[in-house]
Amino acid sequence: AYVVAEPCIKCKYTDCVEVCPVNCFYEGANFLVIHPDECIDCGACEPVCPTKAIFPESELPKEWKEYQKLNAEYAPQWPNIAEKRAALPEAEEYKDKKGKRDLLEL
Ligand code: SF4
Ligand code: F3S
Repeated sequence: AYVVAEPCIKCKYTDCVEVCPVNCFYEGANFLVIHPDECIDCGACEPVCPTKAIFPESELPKEWKEYQKLNAEYAPQWPNIAEKRAALPEAEEYKDKKGKRDLLEL
């Protein structure tokens, strides 16, 4: 499955949602996750994310390994999101910021 990692935090551009053929994105307050059992590994979401937050599990950078667990844990708990929406107001400001893990609202 594909995994949403740290760069999505406080951005939530949702371009990924629009291209997913199986609607397997789920929405938290300032982050999205992918349901690992629903993702069909089509790869459509990876190139459209403006923050480059999406990776195939096998290519997830080591420092973001935790996000594999976070996607699996929160996808069943958060509401499904199937349509693109406006990005968060602070998205441009936070797009290239590193070390956003502490800002993740779970
Ligand atoms: Fe959806 Fe394809 Fe991305 Fe999986 S890889 S989340 S199926 S767009
Ligand atoms: Fe997040 Fe990128 Fe999607 S910022 S909402 S993973 S397009």
